[in-house]
This record gives sequence, structure tokens and C-alpha cells, in this order.
Amino acid sequence: MSEKIDPALPKVELHLHFEGAAPPAFIRGLAKEKHIDIAKIFTPDGGYAYRDFWHFLEVYEAACTTLQSPEDFRRLTLAVLEDRAKDGVVYAETFLSPDFCGVGDVTAWREYLLAIEEAALEAQKTMGITLKGIVTAIRHFGPDQSRATALCAAETKSDFLTGFGLAGDEKQFHPKDFTWAFDCAREAGLRLTAHAGEWGGPESVRDALDHLKVERIGHGVRAIEDLALVDQLAEQGTVLEVCPGSNVFLGVYPSFDKHPIDRLREREVKVTISTDDPPFFRTTLTQEYETLARAFGWTEDDFRAINRDAANAAFCDEATRARIL
Ligand code: ADE
Ligand code: ZN
Repeated sequence: MSEKIDPALPKVELHLHFEGAAPPAFIRGLAKEKHIDIAKIFTPDGGYAYRDFWHFLEVYEAACTTLQSPEDFRRLTLAVLEDRAKDGVVYAETFLSPDFCGVGDVTAWREYLLAIEEAALEAQKTMGITLKGIVTAIRHFGPDQSRATALCAAETKSDFLTGFGLAGDEKQFHPKDFTWAFDCAREAGLRLTAHAGEWGGPESVRDALDHLKVERIGHGVRAIEDLALVDQLAEQGTVLEVCPGSNVFLGVYPSFDKHPIDRLREREVKVTISTDDPPFFRTTLTQEYETLARAFGWTEDDFRAINRDAANAAFCDEATRARIL
């Protein structure tokens, strides 16, 4: 039988979109301050409103139009980290995009980044949570934009930035269109992850591994449709950043008990658990754990082991890892 999960259980979250973690009330407040009319992106009860994943991407981008200055991102950082810290998260990695922070201009991007980094250090002192950033190209913005994004990442020296990633609409373009950006980020010393196997099948995961040479995969769950690939992931130790609540909310799987995370784990794939865009999917990491415990009989010991794997897969320095393990 399932066990109640202690919300204070220390948690490591590797897959969190920064703007996607913005509380809706925070975005509504910014819209009001700036007289931006985005009422249609909210439900009557104040949550985010969208029909499906592709509409979700539009609503996400509409919410981002309210984030216009480094000060907005400083406030966003504190709002996001306050929620994560309440959820017992001690270490998080977040996807950030110069497309939303300074519109791709490298000088502006650095100012935004500084504001985020300073707020993250403040939160580390006051809330005991550590945040690191993964600069992320948005797939449907195209390969040219991904090169500008990679240059922003590569040309900015910062202890806060530890990785480079790819998010957005997996149905558009091919991983090989992003090899330049990933090679550039790798040469700059950044660690690599890419969304794949969420809206695309196993071939999408294989292509991300072959062309982008990533060490982690965002989602990756549809690898389950090809057991040879599942075994390859297990042998290589490729870490999956699994977001079960997101997958169920967006309809990748009809329910938690049909989600492949338990089968992937049984076949010894390293799975980690994250929330993706928590207010969009009306979830928290504690809720994810409780639902997984109910669906698969997982206990706090399972979650402790998964958090150790997540800490080992974190794109941070060894001193930080030792602190969170
Ligand atoms: N951006 C924010 N959430 C995402 C998701 N679940 N998949 C791809 N891109 C995203
Ligand atoms: Zn994601």
C-alpha cells in the first residue's frame, strides 16, 4: 500500500522551465502593472488556460510577454524559489532562454542573468535552496535562433550556468539541425540535455543521443516503445528527466498507472522526477511523489534513491553535489 510522503523530504529537481514555474498570480500582477491584456490565458479560478500542448506553448509565450526587465526576473526568481523551497526542493536546475530574457541580445542577456543569479544567491541564504541554470534553445524558434542562444550561453562566464538544452515543439525540425548549437555549448564546457520522447517516439530519443550527444534526456519516456533503446539507455546510464504529471495533464498518457516510469525503472533506466511547469499542470513535486506512491507502491526509500540518482546527474560542481547528497 502507499505511504504518505513527508513534504519535507529533501528533493532534487532537474527539469523545471523557469517561466513555466511562474505562479499565475505573479504573471497577472505583472500584466496589470504594465497594462498588458492577457486575461484570456487564465481560467476563471485563476490558473493557466489552454487546450493542448501546442496551445500551452502559445499561452506560455503570452505569459512571457509580461517579463520585460531584469527586475521582473529577479522577482520571478524569488517567487519560483519560494514555491520550490516550500515543496522541500533543496536543489533545482532551471531552463532559461535568452529568447525570453533580453530577446537574444547578449549584453541585455547578461544583465538579466545577473539579476537572476543574485536573486538565486539570496534565496540560497534565506530559503536553503540552490538553483543552477540551463540555457535552452526553443526548437520551434528554429536552428538560426538556436545558434544565437548557444553563443549567449558560450560567451557568458558564470558559475550559475551549468548546462545547455533544447525544449519546445518536438514535432518541428530534427535534432541534426541543432548540432552546431550543441557543439558550441559543449566546447564552452556546458553539460547537455534535450527534450525528446515526449511528443516524438523512440527514434526522436535516438536522434537526440546520436546528433546532440546529450547525457540526459528531458522526458524520454516514449523510449518504452522500443525495448532495445530502453536497454541502451540503461547500459549507457543516460538519465531521464521524467515529468509524470506533465505527461498525464497534457495527454501523453491517459493516467499515472499507464505511465511507463515504473517499467523504465524496472529495466534499470536511471529515472528522475520533476514537475516541468508546475502551475501549468497544477502539481508540486510532493504531489508527484504521492501519486507515484499510490500508482506503483513506491515508498520514501524509492524516492530517496531517485533523489540520490538526480543529485549524481546534476550539472553542478562536486562541492554542491556533496552538499545536496
Ligand atoms: N516548454 C515548457 N514545457 C515544455 C514541455 N513539456 N515540452 C517541451 N517544451 C516545453
Ligand atoms: Zn520540459
